[in-house]
Amino acid sequence: MIDRAQFVRTAKMSSGGKNVIAVVKNNAYNYGLEFSVSAFLEAGIHSFATTSMDEALTIRQIAPDAMIFLMNPTYDFESVRANDFHITLPSLEYYYKYKDELAGLSVHLEFAGLFNRSGFDNVSDLVEIINDMDVLPTHVQMDIAGIWTHFGYADELDMQEYEVERKMWLDTLSSIKKTGHTFKYIHAQNSASFARDGLFDDHTHLRLGIALYGSRPYATLPVSDYEQSMTLKAPIVQLRHLRASQKCGYGGSYQPGKDASVAVVDIGYGDGILRKRAEFHCMINGKCYPIKALMMSHMIVEVDEEVSLEDEVILYGSDLRIDEFTNLGVGANSEQLGALNYNSLKKVIINDARVYQ
Ligand SMILES: Cc1ncc(COP(=O)(O)O)c(C=O)c1O
Repeated sequence: MIDRAQFVRTAKMSSGGKNVIAVVKNNAYNYGLEFSVSAFLEAGIHSFATTSMDEALTIRQIAPDAMIFLMNPTYDFESVRANDFHITLPSLEYYYKYKDELAGLSVHLEFAGLFNRSGFDNVSDLVEIINDMDVLPTHVQMDIAGIWTHFGYADELDMQEYEVERKMWLDTLSSIKKTGHTFKYIHAQNSASFARDGLFDDHTHLRLGIALYGSRPYATLPVSDYEQSMTLKAPIVQLRHLRASQKCGYGGSYQPGKDASVAVVDIGYGDGILRKRAEFHCMINGKCYPIKALMMSHMIVEVDEEVSLEDEVILYGSDLRIDEFTNLGVGANSEQLGALNYNSLKKVIINDARVYQ
């Protein structure tokens, strides 16, 4: 269940009134691309980034005037042109190979930095592109609209490399600025980098993912800035009593050790619950109960006499935040969100103001 009104509030709150490019790749962190883009528009966000052409095309349908940035190198120049997408420019090789196709398109120069998944790794190559463009006749020039990088260490608070990559980037940026070229879009910071440093000077946009979706990039941040709009719950299919000697689950993985009541719950790792999540508790009627076994479609929870068959079992919610379990070692926030299987889980949107208009 997703509370749309809360989703919109969280998007506004977590971006702190700054200009944002919302990262909506992987079906908007599995919240749903169409749902998320329309909610982000309502939150005042008009720029979007994804890795996929299909997603970019869907975003264009919903947001005819938005800036849509393709973060992966693309070769489908026809679709880029037809839809006015902005694209990454990842290397000198790419530039010279596709120079003709790039004419008239909006590109953002990509700096590799320490993350180094893609992009230029030195200033002189970046300057070469700018200079090469400047001497071309206007009608064959591309528009160097932006410059960007991605940090690989901003989320790693116990590592020093973030300071190194941040300095590399800021030094690169100031060297590039000496060319006199002005960029409409300068964006580098993900959720963790923004939480650590605020928006860097001279940067036009943040490029946020997880914070917009209501998870703190690290646990010392205030929950109030990152309210979680999603609740994940499942029904109980059966209540059973086990004797102390009885085992239950594959390989007899759970043995209560005392006479116990258990709830068999209709959710499992096949629905995308990370296995590590089952080492912790769930919530029924506001009370915590230990999860004892996780199977593909079921979960065993040790309960008491207060629990009845009609009760709902909450795995994630405003009192069971995804980021709290991430902090306990249950994967990463985006890993749990991305794993949720909406072919088997039912997604229900509540508090959707559009429905009542
Ligand atoms: C290139 C790029 N920018 C920004 C983000 C957003 O990061 P976060 O979800 O940590 O805010 C991602 C996420 O993976 C990314 O790949």
